[in-house]
Amino acid sequence: MDQAEQLRNIVKKNQQSTRKARIYTVTSGKGGVGKSNAVVNFAVYMQKMGKKVIIFDADLGLANVEIMFGAIPKYNLSDLIYRGKTIKEIITSGPMDIGFISGGSGITGVNNLPKEQLKFLVRNLSELDELADIVLIDTGAGISDHVLEFVMASPEVLLLVTSEPSSLTDAYSLLKALHRNPEFRQAQTKIKVISNRVTSEEEGIGIYEKLNAVVGQFLKGNLEYLGMIPQDMAVEKAIRQQQPVSILYPEAKSSKAFEALTYNLLEGATIPLQEKRGIMQLFSRFIYRRS
Ligand SMILES: Nc1ncnc2c1ncn2[C@@H]1O[C@H](COP(=O)(O)OP(=O)(O)O)[C@@H](O)[C@H]1O
Ligand SMILES: [Mg+2]
Repeated sequence: MDQAEQLRNIVKKNQQSTRKARIYTVTSGKGGVGKSNAVVNFAVYMQKMGKKVIIFDADLGLANVEIMFGAIPKYNLSDLIYRGKTIKEIITSGPMDIGFISGGSGITGVNNLPKEQLKFLVRNLSELDELADIVLIDTGAGISDHVLEFVMASPEVLLLVTSEPSSLTDAYSLLKALHRNPEFRQAQTKIKVISNRVTSEEEGIGIYEKLNAVVGQFLKGNLEYLGMIPQDMAVEKAIRQQQPVSILYPEAKSSKAFEALTYNLLEGATIPLQEKRGIMQLFSRFIYRRS
Protein backbone atom coordinates (compact mmCIF):
# COMPACT_ATOMS: atom_id res chain seq x y z
CA MET A 1 0.00 0.00 0.00
CA ASP A 2 1.54 3.34 -0.96
CA GLN A 3 1.32 6.39 1.24
CA ALA A 4 -1.44 8.07 -0.71
CA GLU A 5 -3.54 4.96 -0.34
CA GLN A 6 -2.84 4.79 3.37
CA LEU A 7 -4.07 8.35 3.69
CA ARG A 8 -7.22 7.57 1.78
CA ASN A 9 -7.88 4.69 4.11
CA ILE A 10 -7.54 6.90 7.16
CA VAL A 11 -10.04 9.28 5.63
CA LYS A 12 -12.44 6.51 4.67
CA LYS A 13 -12.34 5.01 8.12
CA ASN A 14 -13.06 8.35 9.66
CA GLN A 15 -16.02 8.91 7.36
CA GLN A 16 -17.64 5.66 8.32
CA SER A 17 -17.51 6.35 12.02
CA THR A 18 -18.12 9.42 14.15
CA ARG A 19 -20.17 12.51 13.67
CA LYS A 20 -19.22 15.24 11.30
CA ALA A 21 -19.19 18.97 11.73
CA ARG A 22 -21.11 21.04 9.24
CA ILE A 23 -18.61 23.12 7.30
CA TYR A 24 -19.11 26.51 5.74
CA THR A 25 -16.39 28.23 3.79
CA VAL A 26 -16.81 31.99 3.58
CA THR A 27 -15.21 33.65 0.61
CA SER A 28 -15.51 36.66 -1.69
CA GLY A 29 -12.94 36.90 -4.45
CA LYS A 30 -11.86 40.30 -3.17
CA GLY A 31 -10.79 41.57 0.24
CA GLY A 32 -12.66 44.11 2.31
CA VAL A 33 -16.08 42.77 1.37
CA GLY A 34 -17.08 41.73 4.89
CA LYS A 35 -16.06 38.07 5.22
CA SER A 36 -14.44 38.19 8.62
CA ASN A 37 -17.19 40.34 10.02
CA ALA A 38 -19.76 37.89 8.68
CA VAL A 39 -17.90 34.91 10.12
CA VAL A 40 -17.74 36.27 13.66
CA ASN A 41 -21.39 37.33 13.66
CA PHE A 42 -22.64 34.07 12.18
CA ALA A 43 -20.66 32.32 14.88
CA VAL A 44 -22.42 34.35 17.58
CA TYR A 45 -25.92 33.43 16.39
CA MET A 46 -25.04 29.81 15.67
CA GLN A 47 -23.69 29.53 19.18
CA LYS A 48 -26.91 31.16 20.46
CA MET A 49 -28.86 28.50 18.57
CA GLY A 50 -27.05 25.90 20.61
CA LYS A 51 -24.34 24.93 18.12
CA LYS A 52 -20.73 24.63 19.11
CA VAL A 53 -18.79 26.71 16.59
CA ILE A 54 -15.10 26.69 15.74
CA ILE A 55 -13.74 29.24 13.29
CA PHE A 56 -10.77 28.28 11.18
CA ASP A 57 -9.06 31.48 10.13
CA ALA A 58 -7.37 30.64 6.84
CA ASP A 59 -6.76 34.28 5.99
CA LEU A 60 -3.02 34.46 5.60
CA GLY A 61 -2.82 38.21 5.45
CA LEU A 62 -4.32 40.14 8.28
CA ALA A 63 -5.52 37.88 11.03
CA ASN A 64 -8.94 39.43 11.16
CA VAL A 65 -10.92 37.09 13.32
CA GLU A 66 -8.66 37.58 16.31
CA ILE A 67 -8.85 41.35 15.91
CA MET A 68 -12.63 41.28 15.65
CA PHE A 69 -12.78 39.14 18.79
CA GLY A 70 -10.21 41.23 20.64
CA ALA A 71 -8.47 37.96 21.50
CA ILE A 72 -4.84 37.09 21.02
CA PRO A 73 -4.18 33.48 20.06
CA LYS A 74 -1.35 31.85 21.90
CA TYR A 75 -0.81 29.24 19.21
CA ASN A 76 -1.66 28.70 15.58
CA LEU A 77 -1.71 25.90 13.04
CA SER A 78 2.09 25.92 12.81
CA ASP A 79 2.27 24.91 16.47
CA LEU A 80 0.24 21.83 15.67
CA ILE A 81 2.36 20.97 12.65
CA TYR A 82 5.83 21.75 13.93
CA ARG A 83 5.74 22.06 17.69
CA GLY A 84 3.70 19.15 18.87
CA LYS A 85 0.68 21.05 20.15
CA THR A 86 -2.65 19.28 20.09
CA ILE A 87 -5.70 20.53 18.24
CA LYS A 88 -7.34 21.46 21.54
CA GLU A 89 -4.32 23.51 22.55
CA ILE A 90 -4.36 25.61 19.38
CA ILE A 91 -8.03 26.56 19.75
CA THR A 92 -8.38 30.03 21.25
CA SER A 93 -11.54 30.88 23.10
CA GLY A 94 -13.32 34.00 21.84
CA PRO A 95 -16.47 35.69 23.16
CA MET A 96 -19.36 33.38 24.12
CA ASP A 97 -16.90 30.53 24.10
CA ILE A 98 -16.65 30.52 20.32
CA GLY A 99 -13.45 28.70 19.42
CA PHE A 100 -11.08 29.83 16.73
CA ILE A 101 -7.92 28.54 15.15
CA SER A 102 -5.47 30.89 13.59
CA GLY A 103 -4.10 29.38 10.36
CA GLY A 104 -0.92 31.42 10.64
CA SER A 105 1.49 30.47 7.90
CA GLY A 106 0.67 26.83 8.51
CA ILE A 107 -1.66 26.62 5.54
CA THR A 108 0.91 27.41 2.88
CA GLY A 109 3.48 25.35 4.73
CA VAL A 110 1.30 22.28 4.33
CA ASN A 111 2.53 21.84 0.78
CA ASN A 112 6.08 21.24 1.92
CA LEU A 113 5.47 18.79 4.73
CA PRO A 114 6.76 15.24 4.74
CA LYS A 115 4.01 12.63 4.42
CA GLU A 116 4.23 11.44 8.01
CA GLN A 117 3.64 14.93 9.30
CA LEU A 118 0.77 15.42 6.91
CA LYS A 119 -0.92 12.30 8.15
CA PHE A 120 -0.48 13.54 11.68
CA LEU A 121 -1.98 16.89 10.70
CA VAL A 122 -5.02 15.44 8.98
CA ARG A 123 -5.67 13.05 11.86
CA ASN A 124 -5.53 15.91 14.31
CA LEU A 125 -7.69 18.25 12.30
CA SER A 126 -10.30 15.55 11.97
CA GLU A 127 -10.85 15.91 15.70
CA LEU A 128 -12.68 19.12 14.89
CA ASP A 129 -15.55 16.93 13.74
CA GLU A 130 -15.88 15.80 17.35
CA LEU A 131 -15.24 19.17 18.94
CA ALA A 132 -17.62 21.30 16.88
CA ASP A 133 -21.08 21.18 15.37
CA ILE A 134 -20.08 23.79 12.85
CA VAL A 135 -16.72 24.82 11.42
CA LEU A 136 -16.61 28.21 9.74
CA ILE A 137 -13.65 28.79 7.44
CA ASP A 138 -12.66 32.37 6.77
CA THR A 139 -10.63 32.42 3.57
CA GLY A 140 -8.29 35.21 2.68
CA ALA A 141 -8.68 37.62 -0.20
CA GLY A 142 -7.89 36.63 -3.74
CA ILE A 143 -8.14 33.49 -5.78
CA SER A 144 -5.12 31.60 -4.55
CA ASP A 145 -4.90 27.82 -4.76
CA HIS A 146 -5.66 27.35 -1.11
CA VAL A 147 -8.83 29.42 -1.32
CA LEU A 148 -9.98 27.29 -4.27
CA GLU A 149 -9.13 24.12 -2.36
CA PHE A 150 -11.27 25.15 0.58
CA VAL A 151 -14.13 26.12 -1.70
CA MET A 152 -13.99 22.89 -3.70
CA ALA A 153 -13.87 20.78 -0.57
CA SER A 154 -16.81 22.48 1.16
CA PRO A 155 -20.35 21.27 0.72
CA GLU A 156 -21.59 24.79 1.46
CA VAL A 157 -19.90 28.03 0.46
CA LEU A 158 -21.00 31.50 1.46
CA LEU A 159 -20.01 34.01 -1.18
CA LEU A 160 -20.05 37.63 -0.07
CA VAL A 161 -20.54 40.38 -2.60
CA THR A 162 -21.28 44.08 -2.49
CA SER A 163 -22.71 46.33 -5.20
CA GLU A 164 -19.21 47.60 -6.03
CA PRO A 165 -18.38 46.57 -9.60
CA SER A 166 -14.98 45.23 -8.53
CA SER A 167 -16.62 42.99 -5.95
CA LEU A 168 -18.84 41.47 -8.62
CA THR A 169 -16.05 41.03 -11.17
CA ASP A 170 -13.76 39.47 -8.57
CA ALA A 171 -16.50 37.13 -7.38
CA TYR A 172 -17.03 36.14 -11.00
CA SER A 173 -13.29 35.53 -11.50
CA LEU A 174 -13.28 33.26 -8.47
CA LEU A 175 -16.24 31.31 -9.81
CA LYS A 176 -14.63 31.07 -13.22
CA ALA A 177 -11.41 29.69 -11.74
CA LEU A 178 -13.51 27.25 -9.78
CA HIS A 179 -15.48 26.01 -12.78
CA ARG A 180 -12.33 25.67 -14.85
CA ASN A 181 -10.70 23.51 -12.21
CA PRO A 182 -11.00 19.89 -13.33
CA GLU A 183 -11.54 18.80 -9.73
CA PHE A 184 -14.55 21.01 -9.10
CA ARG A 185 -17.84 19.12 -8.84
CA GLN A 186 -20.73 21.49 -9.15
CA ALA A 187 -23.24 19.10 -7.65
CA GLN A 188 -21.16 18.75 -4.48
CA THR A 189 -20.81 22.40 -3.58
CA LYS A 190 -23.73 24.72 -2.92
CA ILE A 191 -22.76 28.34 -3.34
CA LYS A 192 -24.94 30.78 -1.44
CA VAL A 193 -24.65 34.46 -2.16
CA ILE A 194 -24.85 37.08 0.57
CA SER A 195 -25.19 40.68 -0.58
CA ASN A 196 -23.41 42.90 1.93
CA ARG A 197 -23.57 46.63 2.60
CA VAL A 198 -26.80 47.16 0.71
CA THR A 199 -29.58 49.67 1.37
CA SER A 200 -32.58 47.47 0.57
CA GLU A 201 -33.72 43.90 0.04
CA GLU A 202 -34.26 44.72 -3.65
CA GLU A 203 -30.68 45.86 -4.02
CA GLY A 204 -29.50 42.63 -2.41
CA ILE A 205 -31.56 40.45 -4.73
CA GLY A 206 -30.47 42.56 -7.69
CA ILE A 207 -26.79 41.90 -6.97
CA TYR A 208 -27.45 38.18 -6.74
CA GLU A 209 -29.47 38.11 -9.96
CA LYS A 210 -26.79 39.94 -11.88
CA LEU A 211 -24.08 37.54 -10.75
CA ASN A 212 -26.20 34.45 -11.17
CA ALA A 213 -27.13 35.48 -14.72
CA VAL A 214 -23.51 35.64 -15.91
CA VAL A 215 -22.60 32.48 -14.01
CA GLY A 216 -25.49 30.69 -15.70
CA GLN A 217 -24.68 32.03 -19.13
CA PHE A 218 -20.92 31.70 -19.23
CA LEU A 219 -20.12 28.97 -16.69
CA LYS A 220 -23.32 26.96 -16.79
CA GLY A 221 -23.33 27.29 -13.03
CA ASN A 222 -26.01 28.10 -10.54
CA LEU A 223 -25.91 30.16 -7.34
CA GLU A 224 -28.41 30.34 -4.50
CA TYR A 225 -29.36 33.50 -2.64
CA LEU A 226 -29.09 33.45 1.14
CA GLY A 227 -29.96 37.08 1.81
CA MET A 228 -28.57 40.51 2.51
CA ILE A 229 -26.77 42.45 5.23
CA PRO A 230 -27.50 46.17 5.27
CA GLN A 231 -24.87 48.87 5.28
CA ASP A 232 -24.69 49.75 8.97
CA MET A 233 -22.53 52.19 10.90
CA ALA A 234 -22.82 49.92 13.93
CA VAL A 235 -20.59 47.37 12.15
CA GLU A 236 -17.71 49.82 11.91
CA LYS A 237 -18.25 51.00 15.48
CA ALA A 238 -18.19 47.43 16.76
CA ILE A 239 -15.05 46.54 14.78
CA ARG A 240 -13.28 49.55 16.26
CA GLN A 241 -14.16 48.20 19.70
CA GLN A 242 -13.01 44.71 18.71
CA GLN A 243 -16.31 43.03 19.38
CA PRO A 244 -18.90 41.47 17.07
CA VAL A 245 -21.74 43.89 16.31
CA SER A 246 -24.20 41.19 17.33
CA ILE A 247 -22.83 41.24 20.88
CA LEU A 248 -22.28 44.95 21.23
CA TYR A 249 -25.38 46.16 19.37
CA PRO A 250 -27.84 43.26 19.17
CA GLU A 251 -30.61 45.64 18.08
CA ALA A 252 -28.66 47.04 15.14
CA LYS A 253 -30.11 46.33 11.70
CA SER A 254 -27.01 44.37 10.67
CA SER A 255 -27.32 42.20 13.80
CA LYS A 256 -30.94 41.46 12.98
CA ALA A 257 -29.91 40.53 9.45
CA PHE A 258 -27.18 38.18 10.68
CA GLU A 259 -29.67 36.56 13.03
CA ALA A 260 -32.16 36.00 10.20
CA LEU A 261 -29.51 34.65 7.83
CA THR A 262 -28.18 32.27 10.45
CA TYR A 263 -31.65 30.95 10.90
CA ASN A 264 -32.11 30.52 7.14
CA LEU A 265 -28.82 28.74 6.94
CA LEU A 266 -29.38 26.29 9.76
CA GLU A 267 -33.08 25.71 9.36
CA GLY A 268 -33.11 25.81 5.59
CA ALA A 269 -32.94 22.71 3.47
CA THR A 270 -30.59 20.27 5.10
CA ILE A 271 -27.94 18.79 2.88
CA PRO A 272 -28.06 15.08 2.11
CA LEU A 273 -25.84 12.93 4.28
CA GLN A 274 -23.52 11.79 1.53
CA GLU A 275 -22.68 15.42 0.90
CA LYS A 276 -21.59 15.88 4.48
CA ARG A 277 -17.94 15.34 4.08
CA GLY A 278 -16.50 16.42 7.37
CA ILE A 279 -13.35 18.25 8.17
CA MET A 280 -10.99 15.37 7.56
CA GLN A 281 -11.90 14.98 3.94
CA LEU A 282 -11.62 18.69 3.49
CA PHE A 283 -8.06 18.85 4.67
CA SER A 284 -7.06 15.61 3.06
CA ARG A 285 -7.51 17.38 -0.28
CA PHE A 286 -4.38 19.36 0.42
CA ILE A 287 -2.56 16.06 0.56
CA TYR A 288 -4.09 14.31 -2.41
CA ARG A 289 -3.04 17.16 -4.60
CA ARG A 290 0.55 16.19 -4.04
CA SER A 291 0.31 12.46 -4.17
N1 LIG B 1 -22.61 45.54 6.68
C1 LIG B 1 -21.62 46.43 6.83
N2 LIG B 1 -21.89 47.73 7.14
C2 LIG B 1 -20.91 48.64 7.27
N3 LIG B 1 -19.61 48.36 7.14
C3 LIG B 1 -19.26 47.10 6.83
C4 LIG B 1 -20.23 46.06 6.68
N4 LIG B 1 -19.57 44.90 6.39
C5 LIG B 1 -18.26 45.22 6.36
N5 LIG B 1 -18.06 46.52 6.63
C6 LIG B 1 -16.78 47.26 6.66
O1 LIG B 1 -15.88 46.63 5.76
C7 LIG B 1 -14.64 46.41 6.39
C8 LIG B 1 -14.07 45.09 5.89
O2 LIG B 1 -14.76 43.99 6.43
P1 LIG B 1 -14.05 42.60 6.67
O3 LIG B 1 -15.02 41.70 7.31
O4 LIG B 1 -12.74 42.80 7.35
O5 LIG B 1 -13.79 42.18 5.15
P2 LIG B 1 -12.96 40.93 4.59
O6 LIG B 1 -12.78 39.94 5.69
O7 LIG B 1 -13.78 40.44 3.45
O8 LIG B 1 -11.64 41.51 4.13
C9 LIG B 1 -14.94 46.40 7.88
O9 LIG B 1 -13.84 46.87 8.61
C10 LIG B 1 -16.12 47.30 8.01
O10 LIG B 1 -15.67 48.60 8.24
MG1 LIG C 1 -10.99 39.12 6.45
